[in-house]
Amino acid sequence: MAIDFEELSFADAPLIKVTPPGPRSKDYLDYQSSHESSAVSYPRGMPMAFRRAKGATVEDVDGNIYIDFFAGAGVMSVGHSNPDVIEAIEKQLGELTHALDFPHPSRRALVETLLGVLPKSLSRVFFGGPTGSDAVESAVKLAKRNTGRYPLIAFQGSFHGMTAGALSLSSGLYFKEDFLPLLPEVHFVPYAYCYRCALGKNPESCDLDCAKYLDYILEDPHSGVGKPAAVVVESVQGEGGSIAPPEQFMPNIREICDKHGVLMIDDEIQAGFCRTGKMFACDHTDTIPDIMTMSKSLGGVGLPISAIAYKEELNTFPRGKHIGTFRGHVLAYAAGAAGLDFMVKNKLADHALTLGQSMLSMLKEVEKDSRIVGEARGKGLMLGVEFVKDKATKEPSPELATEVRTLCHRRGLLIEVGGHYSNVARFLPPLVITENLAKRGIEIFADSVRDLDRSL
Ligand SMILES: Cc1ncc(COP(=O)(O)O)c(C=O)c1O
Repeated sequence: MAIDFEELSFADAPLIKVTPPGPRSKDYLDYQSSHESSAVSYPRGMPMAFRRAKGATVEDVDGNIYIDFFAGAGVMSVGHSNPDVIEAIEKQLGELTHALDFPHPSRRALVETLLGVLPKSLSRVFFGGPTGSDAVESAVKLAKRNTGRYPLIAFQGSFHGMTAGALSLSSGLYFKEDFLPLLPEVHFVPYAYCYRCALGKNPESCDLDCAKYLDYILEDPHSGVGKPAAVVVESVQGEGGSIAPPEQFMPNIREICDKHGVLMIDDEIQAGFCRTGKMFACDHTDTIPDIMTMSKSLGGVGLPISAIAYKEELNTFPRGKHIGTFRGHVLAYAAGAAGLDFMVKNKLADHALTLGQSMLSMLKEVEKDSRIVGEARGKGLMLGVEFVKDKATKEPSPELATEVRTLCHRRGLLIEVGGHYSNVARFLPPLVITENLAKRGIEIFADSVRDLDRSL
């Protein structure tokens, strides 16, 4: 029987007892900034200390309860403290918690469940280190080993992680500038970011010229780009600003990779597992990559685990070629299998699709009424709102996105900021969010935008 999502969250969200950060949160934040690394980031945008969380709601240590449109950066798809997943973890905890890559029942359960939802031709699964970045590293190594080539092509606006290989494939200069050089021969091409088309086109007159440009680069001996091992693409760009490309983009990239004998790596770390309204975002167009990366919500309630799935013919890593102490984590296998079961049983993809559509149409109203919202967009429950100083010039405004996050936080809504210019408010709620909470969250966002509009 499907679970009533309402019971999964705190009943009284949003509830602001004291403007955040309250005194207890302040104490935690002060301690953290005095003793932890200066690299700590999220608490600077949403100053608070977490106490507990349930479903699509989070309580801070001062008793404030927030609607969560952030979900730990897209991790908590089945909801904080999901009871099915917690039960599976508790059961596992008393039995076995570490096993390197020895088989065990939970590991097998997760592989079987994964193979049940992956495209059939992605018949092999590999678990490397626990983070999304680790999955990207595994995918790149597998592509290099199978092609004997090392150049790679990624997309402008991409984010694939922070380890050296994954960082090389991420386009944000801020993340890389102090650590160069990284991997050699990584090249970036335009993504289908139609609001700011790199080629100056608009969707009405464009024939996916950005994809054609990739074809051109691979064709032209004077493009300056050596034949790559792989093209690495997010089927919906996440950190780049919740950019869902036009329908034909992914199939075109697939065709171009096939034409040139290049592997296609689809990074589903953020867009995967029902977030965009299908199990994987590439399922919207039946595009099957050669290698897929997965992480984030794969660990059920935030237990770290990552994986790649790939085609049988790529299964060429010799024994021990790519290893690590945490090749998946036993508790995360148990959590992941229970989480995936929950997603399927409760039809979270359908829920994400329909709720995402109604949230997006509410956000489109905000766009229409506001002078500072350039575009509201996204797919399923992976949504974004791009802030500009002026709708005509589209001059990006990271300041407004930051301010709207602060106003939302004070009113009891957690949102993330991302985008090429850090000017996109990003919504990634747990997929178990109810229509009521989603609507209330959008109202808080709309009120905050209205306040900013008025203040200008
Ligand atoms: C699409 C994508 N790939 C890779 C990563 C890196 O994952 P992690 O932060 O777990 O290393 C992220 C993280 O946000 C991501 O969104």
